[in-house]
Amino acid sequence: MYSLLPHNTFGIDVNAARFVEYASIDALKAFIARGELTAPYLHIGAGSNLLFTKDYEGLVLHSRIEGIEVVEEDERWVTLRVGAGVVWDDFVLHCVRHGRYGVENLSLIPGEVGASAVQNIGAYGVEAKDLITLVETVDVWGEERAYRVDECQYRYRDSRFKRAENKGVFVTYVHFRLGKLPVFHLEYGAVRQQLADCHEPTLSTVRQAIVDIRRQKLPDPAEWGNAGSFFMNPVVSGERFETLRQAYPDMPHYDLGDGSVKIPAGWLIERCGWKGRVLGPAAVYHRQALVLINLGGAKGSDIVALSDAVRASVRDAFGIDIRPEVNMI
Ligand code: EPU
Repeated sequence: MYSLLPHNTFGIDVNAARFVEYASIDALKAFIARGELTAPYLHIGAGSNLLFTKDYEGLVLHSRIEGIEVVEEDERWVTLRVGAGVVWDDFVLHCVRHGRYGVENLSLIPGEVGASAVQNIGAYGVEAKDLITLVETVDVWGEERAYRVDECQYRYRDSRFKRAENKGVFVTYVHFRLGKLPVFHLEYGAVRQQLADCHEPTLSTVRQAIVDIRRQKLPDPAEWGNAGSFFMNPVVSGERFETLRQAYPDMPHYDLGDGSVKIPAGWLIERCGWKGRVLGPAAVYHRQALVLINLGGAKGSDIVALSDAVRASVRDAFGIDIRPEVNMI
């Protein structure tokens, strides 16, 4: 039995039957060739988007592939090949220190590089898919394959690698194209406000602004176990949104440009009175209603009970089903 407590930011105390780490493509392929990759198996990153609801009676795999190397470069762009096991924010910091533009809005997101390409992480107007050019993988048969970004089927917090049929495809390296000239994405209101006194933004000042915003709104997993946003923001048709707007004229929304409208789930949850509410050892975070937290000693089922209650309230009040972003195992 192997404790998964240090491998999930929700701080759920569960075990796996086996836990295996590998530090290179060759080591992973050798492990597979020896027939050691047996079902059931689960590949994890830093466990910052997972909720374990019981012990895992199988093999948990984790990549320790490190490294950030330049694979292509001209006057304007540089492409970096980054190991799946690199801590995401270490990669962001590397880019900020080396004058690579593009990834700074994704500062302080927990997790690792491999999962960034699976989950298509995003924040403050930037998504991983905007920077990714290629995703290198090894599958359960030990075959290597690289997917160009247009083959990854990227959408909001989604990719081909998240589908059940691709469970046996493991990301080994991700290639990111970054700018060498200063171009920033400062259209997000909170970011503009945070930088209001800053005349000429730099990579460091933008990173600091993002870090400050996140620290204000999001709980530190070292203090309160959590997995960031628990739910995805729902997308509704323009028609449906018009009906909702008549009932709730102040409903915040974001027009996706294809007729559909994204609504912040945090607002829906707060309007249902859940912000800061406690249910057993779990709670809705008092500064950001989209985040569920472990008050200490919660089991996965306690978090699920809270999630179900919140989801039912939102469904009753608005007729909208908010779906968890977190993977429940
Ligand atoms: N809001 C409320 N009450 C709340 C929280 C939010 O009314 O308690 C409303 C406000 O109107 C606010 C709006 O929701 O203006 C948006 O809130 P926020 O900027 O905090 O963003 P979010 O939609 O709640 C998403 C991502 C975050 C990402 C931020 C910033 C998802 C599921 N979440 O949150 O990503 O950091 O935008 O871009 O898309 C994550 O995925 O784990 C994550 C933290």
